[in-house]
Amino acid sequence: LPSHYTLPSGDKIPTVALGTAARGEVGAAVSSALKVGYRHIDGAWAYGNEAEVGQAVKSSGIPREDIWITSKLWNTFHAPEDIEPALDDTLTKLDTPYLDLYLIHWPVAFKKNTNEVDEELTANPYPTWAKLEELVDKGKIRNIGISNFNIARIKNLTANPLKYKPAVNQVELNYFNPQPELLQWSKENGLILEAYSPLGSTKQVKEALNVPIVLNISHRLGITPAQVLISWHVKRGTVVLPKSVTTSRIEENFAVFDLPDDLFTKLETAATSHPPQRVVNPSQGWGLDYDIFDENL
Ligand code: A2P
Repeated sequence: LPSHYTLPSGDKIPTVALGTAARGEVGAAVSSALKVGYRHIDGAWAYGNEAEVGQAVKSSGIPREDIWITSKLWNTFHAPEDIEPALDDTLTKLDTPYLDLYLIHWPVAFKKNTNEVDEELTANPYPTWAKLEELVDKGKIRNIGISNFNIARIKNLTANPLKYKPAVNQVELNYFNPQPELLQWSKENGLILEAYSPLGSTKQVKEALNVPIVLNISHRLGITPAQVLISWHVKRGTVVLPKSVTTSRIEENFAVFDLPDDLFTKLETAATSHPPQRVVNPSQGWGLDYDIFDENL
């Protein structure tokens, strides 16, 4: 199985990353991950832990160019004039001159300094994208992408005359919400998907690790259920972002196995044969009267 995918820029993105969303002990988790061989750290400004992540990267002694660092632009900073200061804040906190990948965290823009949706900038993300393209040319970001975009929202963005197409789309992807249509469409359109909550969201992890077909494959191959699921993601062709602050699990999650085709197909069929359950959806929380994942914009 591939240890990297090549993006349109020619950069090689490592397939397995440590997810670093807001939790304690993230610095120690990053240190452990780098020690066991991870070279890809997925973070975001909104997680409020970029200084801690940056310190752990620095103190690993691993050259910056050998580590892939992703961050994400928060909703309050989509206005073109707010983007570079937001990026600079992230770069300062991470203590790095550049990001390997910068994502638009959500396809939703807030009005400055509020949690109120800016309908105009949400409906038309192109001004935000065009500014990100400029920051690529300025050398502060090597690749740009999106997160939590469905097909309709990607098309809405890419209908514009883009200089750089989105390189990746980071979405909730797991046994309970495997999004086969989005995966297929992304493959056909040269867009790499990145799986967040790859074992399911927190409350689903236990259940995911006990799904009969997952346990069955685990026993047959002598690998753990988490390794079955992470290996399934890689065989589907996505980047996978398992999140853990436990050293043994961080190590466990980094071992990817090439599932035999018949077992992979069984797991894929099982995952896509039940109604999907999406957990992460802030539409209501943000006061929207529509669902941001609705394919009818
Ligand atoms: P922990 O961090 O205690 O090791 P999230 O919903 O924030 O993505 O959380 C992922 C959850 O999955 C965390 O509770 C994490 O626990 C847990 N987890 C990560 N890897 C494994 C694993 N290999 N086995 C069991 N649980 C895991």
